[in-house]
Amino acid sequence: MRLLVTGAAGFIGSHFVRLALERAPGAHVVVLDALRYSGHLSTMQDFWEQVRFYPGVVQDPTLVGHVIEVEKVTHVVNFAAESHNDRSLQDNGAFVHTNTFGVQVLLDQARRHGVEKVVQVSTDEVYGSIAEGDFTEDSPLRPNTPYAASKAGGDLLARAHHVAFRTPVVVTRGGNTYGPFQYPEKLIPFFLTRLLDGKKVPLYGDGGQVREWIHARDHAAGVWAALERGAPGEAYNVGDANERTNAEVVRVLLEETERDESFVKRIPDPRAGAHDQRYSMDCAKARRDLGWAPEVPFETALRETARWYRENEWWWRPLVEDDAYRQFVHSFYGPTLAEDL
Ligand code: DAU
Repeated sequence: MRLLVTGAAGFIGSHFVRLALERAPGAHVVVLDALRYSGHLSTMQDFWEQVRFYPGVVQDPTLVGHVIEVEKVTHVVNFAAESHNDRSLQDNGAFVHTNTFGVQVLLDQARRHGVEKVVQVSTDEVYGSIAEGDFTEDSPLRPNTPYAASKAGGDLLARAHHVAFRTPVVVTRGGNTYGPFQYPEKLIPFFLTRLLDGKKVPLYGDGGQVREWIHARDHAAGVWAALERGAPGEAYNVGDANERTNAEVVRVLLEETERDESFVKRIPDPRAGAHDQRYSMDCAKARRDLGWAPEVPFETALRETARWYRENEWWWRPLVEDDAYRQFVHSFYGPTLAEDL
């Protein structure tokens, strides 16, 4: 297998490369990553010597075509994405560009160069929010944020490419993912890094929103199973039924960082009407057709993740001290809040 992994300097993509190198030791692995704000060479440090790296964006057809051709790529997995909902509320142009247009470029180039299989890594957020029950792969796509809509664009392009051109593309829709190497803007790493630094954390609204959590390694294994056994044209839900309210997750983070409730600042919900109340997926199809099942126990692994952040400050400290990061926190949470937080 000659595998191109896009977005591997990011969170889930890097876990996927580690898993791919374990599962297919002789595989030739090529990484394409734009090294935008959330992608870092430090994230790839442990496997850097085992991959070929190309800097660049997935929406560049010349570059993507060149990489596929010179590296004789047979399989492509696309993790490249703008992934933060809050940022998409500030400016969503980059989201459409990478998450929708980028997928079109990648699929066109894969098709043109006869790639054997493509996996488009999508998200459960394409379904929108569900009050009761679970989303299946046949549920309608009703995204509620510009981020989720841009991912739905990529997801639907994958489907259409298969219908129109028989491009061998499979879609995975993953749940909220946690684990080491997650950029400190998402709930868990944002809160952990702040709490470790003795700063307050901003919980949106009443903290009653429910997310379905899956460990990055299990998510990566679901994508790997889709690459190996997924049927072209099909989508597979990749979740782990660990439904928790944000407040419940935050309680564990407080315990692990030895902070009390006074560190939690409840703020008016900045996502307001676009804040999905609950995500929940039925993953029977992936279990049945891909032979995949999550293995990492949530409570233990969440605590291990907290310990990882405590022990791996070398990785996150430069990220939170970066000017652009501080500016984002400042502009999104507000000047007074940013200081107070
Ligand atoms: O469900 C899959 C999705 O999970 C992925 O497609 C997205 O890329 C990923 O960002 C994540 O989306 P969420 O919006 O659910 O993740 P986030 O960590 O940003 O927020 C999780 C919950 O925590 C959400 O209800 C909002 C809340 N939250 C988040 C932040 C950053 C807070 O209360 N305070 C915060 O500061």
